[in-house]
Amino acid sequence: MAELNLVLLGPPGSGKGTQGERLNEDLRLPYYATGDILRGAVRDETELGREAKEYMDRGDLVPDEVIVGVIAERIDSSEALDGFILDGFPRTTPQAEALDAKLSELGRGVTAVLLIDVSDDEVVRRLGGRRTCEANGHVYHVEFEPPKQEGVCDIDGSPLIVRDDDKPEVIRKRLETYHEKTKPLVDYYDSRSVLRRIAGEAAPQDVAEQIRRTLATLRMEQDEAV
Ligand code: AP5
Repeated sequence: MAELNLVLLGPPGSGKGTQGERLNEDLRLPYYATGDILRGAVRDETELGREAKEYMDRGDLVPDEVIVGVIAERIDSSEALDGFILDGFPRTTPQAEALDAKLSELGRGVTAVLLIDVSDDEVVRRLGGRRTCEANGHVYHVEFEPPKQEGVCDIDGSPLIVRDDDKPEVIRKRLETYHEKTKPLVDYYDSRSVLRRIAGEAAPQDVAEQIRRTLATLRMEQDEAV
């Protein structure tokens, strides 16, 4: 079967992490979420974490040169030979160009970019109610996807917390950053014919179903091409 190199694109709170977790289970491909990687580094107080923290707390992006190496190393690893799921990367045009360059060095390319489309108002509603598992980053929402027991992760039993960057003023800044720096990637990938639009304001299971159908079509196209 052909490899599947997927990118999840969308504003903060659009559901990239929610759908990424499901895809990771369904497809059994490595899932690289740069936000989770960076939060882990902050928690572990590594050099990467120390470098990234102030940018993340402000709702800014960490510098391209810091994050590009982190992803390039993972894509080049043996676990990613059949493909991968990227969440939160690329986020700027230089990052997208660096990803293309790395993949082309390996004789590969991006298979599809799934754009999860959600309005700014919906982003604010979602991030205001998000709860995140402290140990492994599993995602919940107090209203839309509540855990079975309040404040406790269904999967690993660890406490659910509010992320530092889910404060209202930081949410606004993250949205601005998205529109300025990341949204141009919609045209970037559309012009390369790999963009697939997903209506992200549906319920999580409906969004998952749209993604499943999109990937099934993609597989058929891949099969027809060989
Ligand atoms: P990151 O962690 O990637 O944050 P983000 O892109 O802002 O995305 P989020 O994690 O906030 O949202 P999501 O789309 O995953 O939505 P979720 O599924 O949680 O990055 C954090 C920071 O790290 C950045 O600000 C930056 O500083 C830095 N960084 C990361 N990558 C970088 C890069 N490449 N370059 C530079 N800097 C980088 O869902 C949100 C909520 O909605 C949840 O509560 C969920 O339960 C709920 N929900 C999900 N789907 C639905 C639905 N369909 N209906 C109702 N509720 C839903």
